[in-house]
Amino acid sequence: PAPGWSIDADVVVVGSGVAGLTAALRCEAAGLNTVVVTKARLDDGSTRWAQGGIAAALGEGDSPAQHLDDTLVAGAGLCDEQAVRILVTEGPDAVRRLIGTGARFDESDGGGLALTREGGHHRRRIAHAGGDATGAEISRALVEAVRARGMRTVENALVLDLLTDAEGRTAGVTLHVMGEGQHDGVGAVHAPAVVLATGGMGQVFSATTNPSVSTGDGVALALRAGAEVSDLEFVQFHPTVLFLGPEAEGQQPLVSEAVRGEGAHLVDADGVRFMTGQHELGELAPRDIVAKGIMRRMQEQGAAHMYLDARHFGAEMWEHRFPTILAACRAHGIDPVREPVPVAPAAHYASGGVRTDPHGRTTVPGLYACGEVACTGVHGANRLASNSLLEGLVYAERIAADIAAAHAGSGLHARVPQPAPRSEVPEHPLQPAEARFAIQRIMTEGAGVLRSADSLTKAADRLQRLHSEARDALTENGKTAEPGVDTWEATNLLCVARVLVAAAQLREETRGCHWREDHADRDDTAWRRHIVVRLNPDRS
Ligand code: SIN
Repeated sequence: PAPGWSIDADVVVVGSGVAGLTAALRCEAAGLNTVVVTKARLDDGSTRWAQGGIAAALGEGDSPAQHLDDTLVAGAGLCDEQAVRILVTEGPDAVRRLIGTGARFDESDGGGLALTREGGHHRRRIAHAGGDATGAEISRALVEAVRARGMRTVENALVLDLLTDAEGRTAGVTLHVMGEGQHDGVGAVHAPAVVLATGGMGQVFSATTNPSVSTGDGVALALRAGAEVSDLEFVQFHPTVLFLGPEAEGQQPLVSEAVRGEGAHLVDADGVRFMTGQHELGELAPRDIVAKGIMRRMQEQGAAHMYLDARHFGAEMWEHRFPTILAACRAHGIDPVREPVPVAPAAHYASGGVRTDPHGRTTVPGLYACGEVACTGVHGANRLASNSLLEGLVYAERIAADIAAAHAGSGLHARVPQPAPRSEVPEHPLQPAEARFAIQRIMTEGAGVLRSADSLTKAADRLQRLHSEARDALTENGKTAEPGVDTWEATNLLCVARVLVAAAQLREETRGCHWREDHADRDDTAWRRHIVVRLNPDRS
């Protein structure tokens, strides 16, 4: 649909988690006219749900070099070492600047930052807030800073597509806005720089730690705009998500790795610890290894879940250190002080995304990406725990610096670019809202923790059928589902699910969080490389 209203700006930031708000604050501080648009409220999205914390070499005896080593090992041979070096070197100061912006982290008895451990870290280097409510505190501080500066924000704004000018340069985005007064309906923000910080795509699976807004909108937009997307097959399943029954759907409560970092044990149905002996770090092995350990033991025992036993923490430690998790467990009738907590892996994080260079630039001029939507190269085949908030911070700051420099040198045009007219896109007909649940079931059955050529082929065929049905309805009846947030979200989910499955079919090996039952080994000869996807603009 044609935009009914428009706003002009130097930069539009799409998304309001740690990456989006950091980019926006830094752009504004650099004197750029910045607009933040976000799909729900400013504090909705994944950042708010982050528990464990933010990793950085802040502790005595730690160093960026050690953080680099742990990140590369977790990434299973596919990290971009330069991207990781930037992350771990610039990370500590970025965290200090976040504290300067107002985020309050927990302190140790001695007065410095309290640091914990998580899977894959050989040191205590995870800063946390409110015990296990780190993301909520970061979100609070950043939202307050944005409001205090009176920055322009548009909430309830679902991003639709990228606008480009006649030379293919970024010219802004189209949005569907509901309930924002003068900005209702389909409109546009015209700007020569667009920062995608739309978060992840966990909702592509039935059970996930991600909130309902995580529907892959940024990756779908980037694909439709012809930007390169990489590593989508690497979906990380968090090992310990509260198990609420085999039929549980949607966002599930996370039980942070920090619980294991403070000494909780994983035990099977017989109460036996099963990670000891599997890896030198035991329960604190990198996340993919723990998730696989849990899945294997579940298969051996025919069990739907395992247990996390932290009764030995005692009530006081549970209440003080893990109040969010304690409350979530108790809300579901489980008391971790008295009983082991049932846990199973669930979809958690997209290690891949829109491909960027070290400055957060995508392959479309003027389009940037940071946070979970991006693939900067720091995560490789398996993200190291608590590196994601840090990545959002560090790369958002780099993007703001790049936009400010381009603006000053007039690499970005001060004038508002005129968007080129776009053709209708029949290859992306809108999906009906209920397709969301069909996609989630297809993906969980065929492209979840365990994958095979057979399961992936079935998933690909079923997804193709959903796509063909909507396309045929458009061809035959001249209409698709009604435009709206639900139908656009379902359409985006289908778009990213199809690319994810295609990448998972191609990668005939097991590496990091991509686990092929029919190709059980890592194959460094054929597969020490990335799967990069670029669609022709306006084609599926
Ligand atoms: C957790 O608290 O376990 C989540 C940390 C992360 O995903 O990085």
